[in-house]
Amino acid sequence: MRAKILTLPGDGIGPEIVLAARRVLERVAEKFGHEFSFEEALIGGAAIDAVGRPLPPETVAAAHASDSVLLGAVGGDKWDYAPVRPEAALLGLRKELGLYANLRPAKLYPSLKNASSLRADIADKGIDLVIVRELTGGIYFGERGYRTGSMGREAFDTESYAELEIERVARIAYELAEKRGRRLCLVDKANVLTTSKLWRKVTSDLNEDYPSVAVEMMYVDNAAMQLALAPSRFDVVLTSNLFGDILSDLAAATVGSIGMMPSASLGETTVGMYEAIHGSAPSIAGLDRADPAGTILSAAMMLRLSFDLEEEAAAVEHAVEEAVKAGACTPDIGGALGTRAMTDAIISRI
Ligand code: IPM
Ligand code: MG
Repeated sequence: MRAKILTLPGDGIGPEIVLAARRVLERVAEKFGHEFSFEEALIGGAAIDAVGRPLPPETVAAAHASDSVLLGAVGGDKWDYAPVRPEAALLGLRKELGLYANLRPAKLYPSLKNASSLRADIADKGIDLVIVRELTGGIYFGERGYRTGSMGREAFDTESYAELEIERVARIAYELAEKRGRRLCLVDKANVLTTSKLWRKVTSDLNEDYPSVAVEMMYVDNAAMQLALAPSRFDVVLTSNLFGDILSDLAAATVGSIGMMPSASLGETTVGMYEAIHGSAPSIAGLDRADPAGTILSAAMMLRLSFDLEEEAAAVEHAVEEAVKAGACTPDIGGALGTRAMTDAIISRI
């Protein structure tokens, strides 16, 4: 097949890990006879430096014109006081492309048990879950600002969710659960928040359409504890934008390193955006120390979810797992290899 992929290297370690994933995609194209063409555009701090804004309209247009987007990372102290921060570009692009469902799989490789933050007897039970995070709504996009109240200047952010916003992401979670372990856990704060009550209503009503899926509801504080105590109990976890952001970093620690965790952001079409869940790690940028696996595994998700290339996706995932098993690891997962050498070890196994 032919596909046009837009790469957005961004800031910090972004360029190194995007290059690594691009090399993997090129290997897949060569091995399986596909034609992937790559185009690159500016985003984040790099775009602020070059053209004065983090999300130039050319980047949005290039994303719309591509078959899929591969993103590195955005942000860094350098732009902390920029009038518009680099992170706004990421949120803007998610919204602009209508990518309302963010899939974040957390899988513990047996060979990485020692890198997990969990005690051996907990890690031994295995971790294989997917967080389905709502990505274009909630408090990330609600009304916000400053106002004056009886205690002086006040800042506020608001969380609001519409039924249809919940339904479309919940359907994605149900469909995923049908293909996996048929267990869905909705994580919310329904003992306090009105939005959570609506999430519960919509999600439980939808169960009728997916009768084979067993649904459980869990408060987010308990879910955080369960992820640390008994992560093997989870299959598909459905949650709001903010809760998903927080819980996915926790899940990342349990599978060894945030450097290993990929994500896919999807909407109505097959055009998706694929990125590791970690940030730009400015302190190790350019040092050939970044773990490329999160972005490489994101590229595998692109092959599967945007291009319907299951065999190719599985080949990449298998190569990552085998390379890690052979000890081809960056320092975050207990190894001594650099980004390039770990990428080479993965590519040689495809
Ligand atoms: C993530 C990141 C982003 C988010 C930041 C960089 C805005 O933490 O993708 O998890 O909060 O969504
Ligand atoms: Mg995050």
